[in-house]
Amino acid sequence: MSAILVKGGNKLKGEVSVNGSKYVALAAIPAALLANSQVVLENIPDLSDVRVFCEILEGMGARASFGGGVVTIDPRGLRHAVPNPALVRQLRASYYLLGALLGRFGEAEVALPGGDDIGPRPIDQHVKGLCALGAETKILHGHIKATSVGLKGASVYLDVASVGATINIMLSAVLAEGQTIIVNAYPAPWIIDLANMLNAMGARVYGAGTETIRIQGVKALHGCQHAIIPDQSEAATLMIAATLTGGDVTLQNVIPLHLGSVTAKLRETGAVVLPTEDSIRVIGPQRPSAVNVKTLPYPGFFTDFQAPMSTLLTVAEGTSLVTETIWEDRFRHLEELINMGAKVRFEGRSAYIEGVPKLTGALVRGTDLRAAASLVMAGMVAEGETLVEGIMHMDRGYEKLDQKLRALGADITRQ
Ligand code: EPU
Repeated sequence: MSAILVKGGNKLKGEVSVNGSKYVALAAIPAALLANSQVVLENIPDLSDVRVFCEILEGMGARASFGGGVVTIDPRGLRHAVPNPALVRQLRASYYLLGALLGRFGEAEVALPGGDDIGPRPIDQHVKGLCALGAETKILHGHIKATSVGLKGASVYLDVASVGATINIMLSAVLAEGQTIIVNAYPAPWIIDLANMLNAMGARVYGAGTETIRIQGVKALHGCQHAIIPDQSEAATLMIAATLTGGDVTLQNVIPLHLGSVTAKLRETGAVVLPTEDSIRVIGPQRPSAVNVKTLPYPGFFTDFQAPMSTLLTVAEGTSLVTETIWEDRFRHLEELINMGAKVRFEGRSAYIEGVPKLTGALVRGTDLRAAASLVMAGMVAEGETLVEGIMHMDRGYEKLDQKLRALGADITRQ
């Protein structure tokens, strides 16, 4: 198990390039199974989740290779609809295999997914959508089995705006007969990007990026070449790290429009944020000011930015109120930060953070990918040394984040 040793005190300075979106990559790979010829995906981040996904596809008879930011998938040899359960359990996003395989074979049997420990992660809305399209589902021995005798378009209302359910329903509806309407769909850029990919394969998806998505089923989909958008969460993490250390960092390969909530909040803390068309420069203040943050679906303040942001607020001047409305158990990093001297009081889904002038290094453990990255960031402004365990979580969602931070001047070593 790897850990990261951080010596605090260095300001981040320089230029860094942001990788492709994890969310799109992890949906685009199973989406490729719907094609009848080769799919080439570019700007794919080098994450352990991407590699595991390729292994799952290979195990089902498809050909999948990854290198140099490009995943090439030839789904023609795909033989069966039961992916390797041991591999499936390593990924959260493996639930997309349900929609994709159901669309392709009319059946799928997928082990219930694993992933981060951030509270209960129900998939009832995914199941509701697949059933509305005519699938029958049952859960047996930790697997979910879905079968259909031909999916038919339907109207699906999501009780919660869910990224995963929106994507899963899109994947199962593109080859269904007739029209599917998703009401209260998740309205985000990464849903638009996936719709663009599906449309490049010959699908007819309209309205992605809004709360109502309309999908007109087609008979077959062909291969495509698609370059995915930059990763908002990695960009936000680096922007927050620059602010936290009082640094001066320019991020390349970003779409500033997708980073509106974090840009606004960092400006409130006193950072100077200067966007161009495809880059953002962030200049941190002497000491950030306290701000209140509430996580909401996009374009609100995204839950994945919360851990790095609340880490920054532990050293801000004043008291901040952070409310997490999406995941029940996403304050574990703050519990660890208390061991580093942070002053935090929890009240239900809120945390009151009274900023302290300095954190002190300690042995801490990240329990999910954002928490692990945030603790590394905390170490960068703490007095002395911080050893962060649980780095395998960070590696699931960030490509070589430690190397990027080191190139920007952080004193970081992987153990
Ligand atoms: N929800 C339900 N029922 C469902 C699905 C979701 O009640 O069937 C609830 C969840 O409990 C949660 C809310 O709806 O309260 C939103 O969940 P969503 O379905 O959007 O989450 P997800 O698709 O499982 C993706 C990302 C998460 C990110 C959320 C933000 C992937 C693989 N994961 O998860 O990423 O936090 O969207 O909504 O795309 C991360 O990268 O750190 C991460 C956890």
